Amino acid sequence: MTALVLSDVSRNFGGVRALSNVSFAVEAGERRLIIGPNGAGKTTLFNVVAGAVAASAGKVAMFGCDITSLSAHRRARMGLSRTFQITNLFPRLTVQENVLLALQATEAGAFSLMRRMRCNRELFDRADALLQEWNLSAIAGREAKEISYGEKRQVDLMLAMALEPKVLLLDEPTAGLSAAEVVHVVGMIRSLPKEMTVLMIEHDIDVAFDLADRIAVLHQGLLIAEGDPASIRADPRVAEIYLGEDEADTEPC
Ligand SMILES: Nc1ncnc2c1ncn2[C@@H]1O[C@H](COP(=O)(O)OP(=O)(O)O)[C@@H](O)[C@H]1O
Ligand SMILES: [Mg+2]
Repeated sequence: MTALVLSDVSRNFGGVRALSNVSFAVEAGERRLIIGPNGAGKTTLFNVVAGAVAASAGKVAMFGCDITSLSAHRRARMGLSRTFQITNLFPRLTVQENVLLALQATEAGAFSLMRRMRCNRELFDRADALLQEWNLSAIAGREAKEISYGEKRQVDLMLAMALEPKVLLLDEPTAGLSAAEVVHVVGMIRSLPKEMTVLMIEHDIDVAFDLADRIAVLHQGLLIAEGDPASIRADPRVAEIYLGEDEADTEPC
């Protein structure tokens, strides 16, 4: 089944054409990496898929349903989740309290005191299990404003994954992390349920090639290449962007 279909999606910001007739399809369960230089339109593409930014033209469909004009909230309720911005963590609450709040938002209303108490217990257990699974138990009691940038990124990522979305959008989840944190985060992404569709922007080419089933390459708002990692690696247009024209044009002696 196809999870996402983008058909001729364009987005202009004033005179800037951030996306230009971008079309591609992502199969359910696929790990799809989006790469391209700064300003290529990658984040705009995510915003259009998530509903944070409207497409100037074109269509977006999720599991066969046209979602082009649906709000971000409706898309989230259909199973789309994206990494929270760091600022979405409540700075004065502890990491554990932030996790509890995010988990609680996914629970149906509690109708009785008993049910509420039981749910609370379940929520605490789930929050603890998540923090343990992520190796973040040590910072559970610290206020979000006190933890490191890398830890914030991991909490952010953990919360997006904990919602158990059908489609997960990750915008540069390894940016600014230490080498050890990158290994940890890549491991967590790898261990996501196989049926979860993951669309991920990644600036680290090695990480991107490592995780991807398929890769889409954006450059100046255009989709310039799409395919499996081997074909993208061999694509001269991709080499040109990443190596610079001079190097790519140089014939081996
Ligand atoms: N909200 C916005 N207002 C004006 N221009 C924007 C906005 N968002 C993105 N752009 C422009 O669109 C282009 C693509 O940006 P972006 O999608 O953030 O690229 P990437 O994520 O690949 O670095 C850039 O030229 C950027 O300046
Ligand atoms: Mg970006």
